[in-house]
Amino acid sequence: MEISFNPIHSIDRAISLLFKNDAELLQQFKGSFDPVIRVADPKFADFQVNGILPLAKKNRLNPVQLANTVCKKLTDSQTIDSNLFELSVAGPGFINFKLKASYLSKWLESYSSAQAIQQETSQWLNKEITVIDFPSANTAKQAHIGHLRPMVIGESIARILEFSGATVIRDNHIGDWGTNFGSLIMILKKKGITINEFENPAEALELIDSLYKEATTLENNNPELRDISRNELLKLQNGDSENTLIWQSIIDVSNQAFEKLFEQLAVKIDYTLGESFYKDKVQRIYDELLTLEIAEKSDGALVVWHNEIKKFAKDNKRPFPFNIRKKDGASNYASTDLATILYRIEHFKAQSVIYLTDSRQQDHFEQLFLTTKKWFQKKDYPLPKLKHVWWGTILGSDNKPIKTKSGESIKLQLLIDEAIERALKVVTEKNPSLPVEEQRTIAKAVAIGALKYADLSSNRTQDYVFDWDRMLSFEGNTAPYLLYVIARINSIFRKADLDLSDSSINHHFDVRTTYEIQLARKLIQFPITLNQTLSDLRPHFLSTYLFELAGVFNTFYNNEKVIDADSSIQQRRISLCHRTHTVLSIGLNLLGITTVDRM
Ligand code: ARG
Repeated sequence: MEISFNPIHSIDRAISLLFKNDAELLQQFKGSFDPVIRVADPKFADFQVNGILPLAKKNRLNPVQLANTVCKKLTDSQTIDSNLFELSVAGPGFINFKLKASYLSKWLESYSSAQAIQQETSQWLNKEITVIDFPSANTAKQAHIGHLRPMVIGESIARILEFSGATVIRDNHIGDWGTNFGSLIMILKKKGITINEFENPAEALELIDSLYKEATTLENNNPELRDISRNELLKLQNGDSENTLIWQSIIDVSNQAFEKLFEQLAVKIDYTLGESFYKDKVQRIYDELLTLEIAEKSDGALVVWHNEIKKFAKDNKRPFPFNIRKKDGASNYASTDLATILYRIEHFKAQSVIYLTDSRQQDHFEQLFLTTKKWFQKKDYPLPKLKHVWWGTILGSDNKPIKTKSGESIKLQLLIDEAIERALKVVTEKNPSLPVEEQRTIAKAVAIGALKYADLSSNRTQDYVFDWDRMLSFEGNTAPYLLYVIARINSIFRKADLDLSDSSINHHFDVRTTYEIQLARKLIQFPITLNQTLSDLRPHFLSTYLFELAGVFNTFYNNEKVIDADSSIQQRRISLCHRTHTVLSIGLNLLGITTVDRM
């Protein structure tokens, strides 16, 4: 019997084989049978087959009897190798599968390194071309704490997709074509400020931020200034060269300032094709959607109706229309997004597109996806998979959206600086004898890791409370706790005078004691967790697993001698340490977290 990477597949394959080949079963049931295999309560088994019950019910059979028959047939026919699995019937007709130590050992031997694991996972998505649209902040504004989630969640999901074999294109769809540029150009001209004379992009962006605030106050007090701004915007939209240069200088500093943040947060972007990139591509959208009778004119605007959407407009008669062109003929967020989908299909050959924004854009994406579906159907274009990944709000200790004391949003750079400062304190306290340079490197990994982990370890669709003390604690479900386990394994290897990168040490498994078996059992759940994380695009599944694995490892380590044990015992325990290190490192890397050898 083959030891598959995901043990559920071994069971699934065996059961389908039985149902296909066993004459008696074939006679009793027609059609296909879904065994419905789930991870079981670890007190009883590893996996549970739940599908016998509905099958028995449909065929008016006694489920316990049927489960017993199937169980017996599986072992008698040797479809299931009883050296690897222990089977039993439980409850009203479930079949429990317990992995024997020999299965665990064989699995650990077969998937013995990060490369071996990746070789398996990289087949999952079969090179599917996937555009991931993140972090896509709007330009001309300084990044604040609200920009943390798109960067952190986006980077993690991109890594998970890559690890699962997708061909990932990271496209930063910045909002760089907004009406705010009219006001900005107005005030820059009025004050005679030239943006590209600044050395420090972050400083320039700070100035732009405050100039914009000043501009809107001025406009509120002098309506004629508002007309000037509007005129500057119109000139920009019509390609006026002076305004285009000013606009470009603002976009440049904005991108440079963001790049600095990306670097600190280990965020990688392949393209920055913002809204402005599509300004000459929207006409085709209007034409196509009108010709295909998907959009209709309404008061000069262009709208698409989706009667299947259950949220109704004010008149309570029809749902909200999807407005794809403004009354004055200007493009909007929807027009550029439709042009963007087309470009991603035609230029990147995208088979899947994943959008990351906060929860407030759910309606937009629902309408965008519906429009695309109808449009592509009529156009006879293959519809890519379209997914909106959204999240909740970061809250302060008062359970309200987090703000500074004076009620402003917290600047992302200040947040990162504070994290590093706090982490440095924690790290020096814990390890005062390390060289200062190393303390700094560790503090940075801990700080960024803590910020990211606090975000990724909560279910993304829920809000979470930002709490410095908790995220930097070495206890509980935190980055420092996990990083420390990795450092601990490194130190075990140093003590044993072994090299973690030496591949010859990790090939012998023969798990025996309760703690060894418990750890092995947790290790082999990695593919199942990863699969679940991938299909839901929810990194907290992975982080919860890593936290549990770290706990099981600590229990193992506190109860079993690793070094100084009898040499064959030492070898298998060292191998288990090695494997835990591999899985924890892969896992943290998929969360975008940098690990350190020493803490
Ligand atoms: N720039 C937008 C914002 O800050 C997010 C863009 C998301 N991507 C997209 N294709 N609509 O809200």
